[in-house]
Amino acid sequence: MAEPISNPLQRPLANGVVPEPVVERTEQRWVTIMATMLGVMMAVIVVTGVTGALHPASNVEVIDPRTLHLAGEFVESNLGTAIEPDGSATVRLIAEQYDFVPDCVVVPAQTPVTFRLTSADVVHGFLLPNTNVNTMVVPGFVAEVRTTFAQPGEYEMPCHEFCGLGHHAMWTRVSVTPREKFADQGPLERTRCEKH
Ligand code: CUA
Repeated sequence: MAEPISNPLQRPLANGVVPEPVVERTEQRWVTIMATMLGVMMAVIVVTGVTGALHPASNVEVIDPRTLHLAGEFVESNLGTAIEPDGSATVRLIAEQYDFVPDCVVVPAQTPVTFRLTSADVVHGFLLPNTNVNTMVVPGFVAEVRTTFAQPGEYEMPCHEFCGLGHHAMWTRVSVTPREKFADQGPLERTRCEKH
């Protein structure tokens, strides 16, 4: 009877056990296949991004975040709720660390409402619970979301994109009021409400 080998790695393999060099070769092949797949996927992401197919989800409309307060649609006097000639409402807001301007908006119920937002600094979020309104607010882009509120009511609107140390305190209020309240609003008037 042969002397038993003390090192278990050098013992002859039982029938049916795959020898180590074969295992190694198979693992090498799989690593190569996985690395190739990873390379292809990274290439697809980079190529589609560079050739312009990747954009922020809501609206591809660019704006210079450095001059928001100087000219254009997001100057301070134009923020808030405007009533358009067709009776719909457009609400313009700026998100900035750590507040929305204006910090409380009032909109008519049973009326198409378009929210247009942009950021003065970093990425923020705008979300109205139980509605279709949910967008990121990215500096350099105008985010646009449309909705209609069936009933008057109040919405607390927290920023839902982590934007810095004051993120938890960043919120606005959307107050939906009966549409009659907007009956005599002129085309150049912008309404806001008081934050409580
Ligand atoms: Cu703004 Cu979080």
